[in-house]
Amino acid sequence: MNQKINLKIAPSILASDFSCLLSDVKKVERKADILHFDIMDGHFVPNITFGPGVVRALRGKINLPFDIHLMVDNPEKWVKPFAEIGCEFLTVHLEVSMHVDRLISSIKGEGVKAGVALNPATSLCNLEYILPRLDLVLLMTVNPGFGAQRFIPEVLPKIKNLRQMAKKRGTQLDIAVDGGINGETAERVVEAGANVLVMGTSIFGTSDPEKAILNIKKKITVQPLSHQGTKE
Ligand code: DX5
Ligand code: ZN
Repeated sequence: MNQKINLKIAPSILASDFSCLLSDVKKVERKADILHFDIMDGHFVPNITFGPGVVRALRGKINLPFDIHLMVDNPEKWVKPFAEIGCEFLTVHLEVSMHVDRLISSIKGEGVKAGVALNPATSLCNLEYILPRLDLVLLMTVNPGFGAQRFIPEVLPKIKNLRQMAKKRGTQLDIAVDGGINGETAERVVEAGANVLVMGTSIFGTSDPEKAILNIKKKITVQPLSHQGTKE
């Protein structure tokens, strides 16, 4: 029997119905593992979404770990405000900060797990000197800014190489993928080494989001141990 992977499904609220956000998120609360918030400022990415107010509004009402995906300039400014609301992960883009190591320290200093996100074209070699400090690496499988985009298959070898990098260092690392993840692409990215699946349209775009999560979990067959995520 192959070892089970530490599979985590992270619905992205960007694809939810903002006119009834709480009731939409309640539909995934029981079966999701993490709730993914796409914070966009219209500078780092060509779109604007929402800020700490929306996250705070849900914090007291949703019993899930929050993953804040910061697609903003000056992410340093936003570490404390989001940490104070109460999030499990703060994920910052490597491309936007000149001082990533200091940024990781400031996130961890707030008692929050540190994630770094890489756009599709950004190479893994940038992680070389910070990988042991990270709790999560988010590999974008679309160019960030919008939901419902097409999956970029060229990222598959990158997922594989990152899992090998983590294994070589003996670090338990959550490898998250984000963008165009659905029934078909989910199998491919898990096979490559991902264990955290950020999914927007393929969950909130369905008539039964909870069933969509269960179907994905059922579909992902067990994989060799190499795909371990961080210990609970
Ligand atoms: C894109 C966001 C993703 C997006 C995923 O910039 O980071 O989280 O919401 O949406 P889908 O799953 O619809 O591609
Ligand atoms: Zn995201």
